[in-house]
Amino acid sequence: MSLNAEPSLMPLPAKYTFGSGRLAITENFNLSLSGQIDPRLHDTITRFIERLSRQTGITFPVNSRLPVTLAINCNSIGKEWPALGDDESYTLIVDAQQARLNAPTTLGVLHGLETILQLVQQDERGFAIPAVNIDDRPRFPWRGLMLDVCRHWMPIDVVKRTLDGMAAVKLNVFHWHLSEDQGFRIESKRFPKLHERGSDGHYFTRAQVREVIQYARDRGIRVVPEFDMPGHATSWLVGYPELGTDPGPYQIERHWGIFDPAMDPTKESTYRFLDAFIGEMAALFPDEYFHIGGDELNGKQWSASAHVQAFLKQHGLKDNQELHRYFNTRLHAIVHKHGKRMEGWDEILDPALPKSIVIQSWRGQKSLNEAARQGYSGLLSAGYYLDLMQSTEFHYLNDPLDEESAALTPEQRSRILGGEMCMWTEFVTTMNVDQRIWPRAAAIAERLWSPQSVRDVRSMYARLARISRHLETTANLVHRQAYRMMLERLAGADPVEPVRVLADIVEPVKLYTRGDTRDYTSWSAYNRMVDAAHPESDAGREFRYAVEARDWTTVRNTLTTWRDNGADVRRTLESHALLTETIPVSENLTKVAVIGLQALDAIEGKQPLPAGWNASEVLNTAKKPVAELLLMAVPGVEALVSQASGTAK
Ligand code: ACM
Repeated sequence: MSLNAEPSLMPLPAKYTFGSGRLAITENFNLSLSGQIDPRLHDTITRFIERLSRQTGITFPVNSRLPVTLAINCNSIGKEWPALGDDESYTLIVDAQQARLNAPTTLGVLHGLETILQLVQQDERGFAIPAVNIDDRPRFPWRGLMLDVCRHWMPIDVVKRTLDGMAAVKLNVFHWHLSEDQGFRIESKRFPKLHERGSDGHYFTRAQVREVIQYARDRGIRVVPEFDMPGHATSWLVGYPELGTDPGPYQIERHWGIFDPAMDPTKESTYRFLDAFIGEMAALFPDEYFHIGGDELNGKQWSASAHVQAFLKQHGLKDNQELHRYFNTRLHAIVHKHGKRMEGWDEILDPALPKSIVIQSWRGQKSLNEAARQGYSGLLSAGYYLDLMQSTEFHYLNDPLDEESAALTPEQRSRILGGEMCMWTEFVTTMNVDQRIWPRAAAIAERLWSPQSVRDVRSMYARLARISRHLETTANLVHRQAYRMMLERLAGADPVEPVRVLADIVEPVKLYTRGDTRDYTSWSAYNRMVDAAHPESDAGREFRYAVEARDWTTVRNTLTTWRDNGADVRRTLESHALLTETIPVSENLTKVAVIGLQALDAIEGKQPLPAGWNASEVLNTAKKPVAELLLMAVPGVEALVSQASGTAK
């Protein structure tokens, strides 16, 4: 029997062919390193062996004289720090005797080792890697993940395991959103009141920042810091109100949204401050790129300020947009002086800025194409917002080179460097951050790495289910465990299983609707079912697939479980304060399941539809969000009902 290994790979390699046969992984496993050996590879290899050992339960001997089962060759060490455009390619050839991993630089070795770990499988004979021939390289050079550590504090262990997950799926840029209205999250030696007054004590020390950068480098990941200005900057102004347009005083913002405080672009002292601050940060972060934010400036403080309005007149500036351009131009000179390239959100796109900047497009793909047309490099983030609770399929099919980009010249297209997913953390805590990012991030990683033609959604989901486990077992993530733990907390001493059945078939409300019915702040608890529920319900999707496939056994079993769950879970929901709000959701689930079973009986010819049967009232009610939850049993049952109605005709 040969192993079927494709289902375990994500991202899929650029080119691969599976052979027959398998390379057994036994206690005789032995590896060799040749060529140019980057010292960081020793640590990588040690971790690789530990992870392989954890996966297989095999203890591997050290310094063995056994024949080499994994021969690694690296042609050059590459640059000290990973950089945009590095050669990340590798080849991996596996036959029954040996695996040979070859790479031009250390980065390819890192990626190839992750591929090997994904390929390891177990069958009745033990653990093995299937025979395969892989020739792999990324489609886009910039494959990022942005983590907001400000709205909710995300300590260093969260950052590190995020980096572990990123490395496992070959992402290569960690965009660290370090300042916001709600928190200034990095120690500044030069301006200590930034972190002392602006962070509630939750910030990264400079030593921790160095540690993270090193940790990322060891995994082939660049670290790009973001300091958001001139808006989204309240936390800076708590310690340094003189940086603000109004005299203050300012307080750390506790709510979510867009707020008025903005830096004062008219004072020379603002630029002296930013020069010193950016100088300090530019020395700390080795990456060439430096993100200055620039998004969502509402301009209210500027418009209401007499001295800002006088400045506009004096400088012949028409409006706030021109003033923002002026600010960005000054900022660009500072960033450039400190040896960095400036990056910013869509809003900074302006012909006044040099073409060396990078535009991160979050408002839509149009602005990315427009930037490329104007000669700017860009990244796609629109469609990759993990906080909006959209399906993996939605993110997966969102391509940085969309249909409209076909109208771009090849040169313009080459300016689209890739994409970055964004994890904004208004509604995300250390408890659920992993499951908000993973496993969806793995599918986006595939979009950014694999050939554009790789877009089979069913294949993606089948592989994602395996990769999701892999990310926990070998990459330190806790996205599946945390779900269980949050549900156990909700259930108190009661059995968690019936609560899980309910939680499995709901999803949090989508887009920016969370908070429409409640006033959330940074003090809120975020410990309800909506916080535990996965962004996408696998149970709901699998049910839909089963209906489409007319797999009536699965459909009936699922509907029966859902129908009966109402009675199973009722007492727990009634007797736990955090769960009472979900009682109507559970009731809807039972009703929807009953409708589904009636439809199925009709389809299977067991029982005709009851006279005057009307499914739509139940289904329409069940579609409405309750407790900020969507009941994902509905779409599949709707499909079933339409089949049944067809049968009835
Ligand atoms: C953003 O979402 N304001 C970049």
